[in-house]
Amino acid sequence: MTHESRVRRAYVETYGCQMNISDGELMEGILETGGYEIVRAPEDADVVLVNTCAIREHAERRVLGRVSQLNGLKRDRPDMLIGVTGCMAQRLGETLLEQAPYVDLVMGPDGYRGLPETLGRLERGEGEPVPPPPTASARQASKKRGPQLAVLQLDMDENYQGLEQRRTDGPTAWVPIQRGCDHRCTYCIVPYVRGGEKNRSALEILAEVRGLADQGVSEVTLLGQTVNSYVWDDVNFPQLLRDVARVDGIRRVRYTSPHPNDVSPELVEVMAMEPAVCEHLHLPAQAGNNRTLRRMLRRYTVESLLEKVDLIRTAMPGIALSTDIIVAFPGETEEEFRDTLDLMRTVRFDEAYTYKYSLREGTPATRLPAEDFVGPDEAQVRLQELIEVSRAIQAEINVSEVGRVEEVLIEGSGRDEGQIRGRTGRNKIVVFDGDPDRIGTYTQTLLERTSGATFAGSEVTSSAVEPVLA
Ligand code: SAH
Ligand code: SF4
Ligand code: F3S
Repeated sequence: MTHESRVRRAYVETYGCQMNISDGELMEGILETGGYEIVRAPEDADVVLVNTCAIREHAERRVLGRVSQLNGLKRDRPDMLIGVTGCMAQRLGETLLEQAPYVDLVMGPDGYRGLPETLGRLERGEGEPVPPPPTASARQASKKRGPQLAVLQLDMDENYQGLEQRRTDGPTAWVPIQRGCDHRCTYCIVPYVRGGEKNRSALEILAEVRGLADQGVSEVTLLGQTVNSYVWDDVNFPQLLRDVARVDGIRRVRYTSPHPNDVSPELVEVMAMEPAVCEHLHLPAQAGNNRTLRRMLRRYTVESLLEKVDLIRTAMPGIALSTDIIVAFPGETEEEFRDTLDLMRTVRFDEAYTYKYSLREGTPATRLPAEDFVGPDEAQVRLQELIEVSRAIQAEINVSEVGRVEEVLIEGSGRDEGQIRGRTGRNKIVVFDGDPDRIGTYTQTLLERTSGATFAGSEVTSSAVEPVLA
C-alpha cells in the first residue's frame, strides 16, 4: 500500500506542563485538519510525535529514553516517522538529530502550524541529510540515515490564532491565552525555548470559551507562563477572567501559572466576586529568602509575597493555595533554605510542588561561581526536609477539612471498582462510590477521611445538604 492510498495515522505523546499538554492538543488538531487520523497507541501510527519538556535534566533524560524505545517500532515499519517536538526539541535542536539518528524531525513550539507540510516533505524524502556526529562510532557513521528536518524558528507573531485544538470529550478544557515568557528567572529555560510573551486576542479567547460551553464543557483553565500578566488592547487579565467567568454554561474557571507580582487588588476582587472563579490559586514562591529570590530574579521579596497572600486571604478566607519551590539554587546556604521552610510554615500552602535545582545550559544561573553549587547529597537532604514539612502542613489542613460538604465535578473513575473521582473548587480530590456514567456532572460530597493529600467521601443527597448550604 502506498502512503497516498490511505489515511495517515498520527500519535502524539506529551510530557511537561499544562501548556505543553495543550500544545499536544493543538498539534492533534492541526494534524487532523491536515488529513491525519489521531490514534491512541504508537504501534498504530505512521507518525509518532513526542512532545517534550526541558525544565529539568531528569525530565529530558526520561524522554530521551522513551524516544529510543519508540525507535524499536521502526524495526518492523521502517517508513514510520518519529518526531520530537516541544521545549526539549527547541533546546537541543540539530544536536538531537545527530545523537538520535532515527529521529526524523525536531520541531520547536512555534513550528506546529506547518506540521502536516513538514511531515509531507519528509515522506517525500525531502529532508536534509545530517552528517554523523564527530563522536559517532564507525558503525554508527556508516549506517544509512534517512532525511531529517529541523524546524526551530521562534516566531514572535505565532500565537496559533485561528487554529483549533483537538480536545477529548469531557467537562474540562485547557484554554491557552498566552505563549512564552518575558521574565528571565535565572534558573529557567522557558524563555529560551518558548520565546517572549505573546497574548491571544480576548475576543478569540471568549469565542473559544463560548464554543466549549456549547459543547458541554463547564470548567476551563486559562493557561500561560505568567498568565496574569496577560493584556490585549485594553483588556487586562482580571477583565478577561471576569468575562470568561460570565460565559453561559461555564461553572468553574481556573488559571495557571500566575506571577505573584501581577496578583493585583483588581484580580483578587474579580476572584472574590465571580462565583465561577474557583477558590484556588497556584502562587509559585520558589524560595523564602530575599537574597535567593533576588539571585533568582523573581522580582519580589518575601515581605511583598506575604502581603499578596494577606490580600488574597482577606478577600477569600477559604481559598486554597498551592506553590512551586526550588531547593539548592546555586549559593543557597543552609540558613537560607531554613527561610524557605519558615515561609512554608507561615503561609501554610495546601499543596507544594517541590524541585531540586537543575542546571539548564544557557540560563544565567549557570554562570554563578561553580564552588557555590550545592552538592547533590545536600540538595537531596533539603528536598526531603521540604517535602516532609509541606506534606505535614497539607495533612493538617486536610484533616481540619474532614466533615465539610463540598461540590465536586466528577472527572473520572476511582482506582477501585465502583468508585468515582471528583475535584472540589478548591482543587482537592475526593473519591467516593458512584457510577462512571456521572462523569462530567457536579454533586455534593461529604469529606469523610483524608490520606493527607486526597479525600475519601460520600455523596450527599440534595435534601441533606440544604442545611449546610443555607
Ligand atoms: N511560569 C511558571 C513556571 C513554569 S516552570 C512560573 O513562573 O511559575 C514550573 C516550575 O518548575 C517552576 O515554578 C519552578 O519551580 C520549576 N523549575 C523551573 N526551572 C527549574 C530548574 N532549572 N530547576 C528546578 N526547578 C525548576
Ligand atoms: Fe520561567 Fe520565570 Fe518565566 Fe516562570 S516566570 S516561565 S519561572 S522565566
Ligand atoms: Fe517544560 Fe516547556 Fe512546560 S520546558 S514545563 S514543557 S513550557
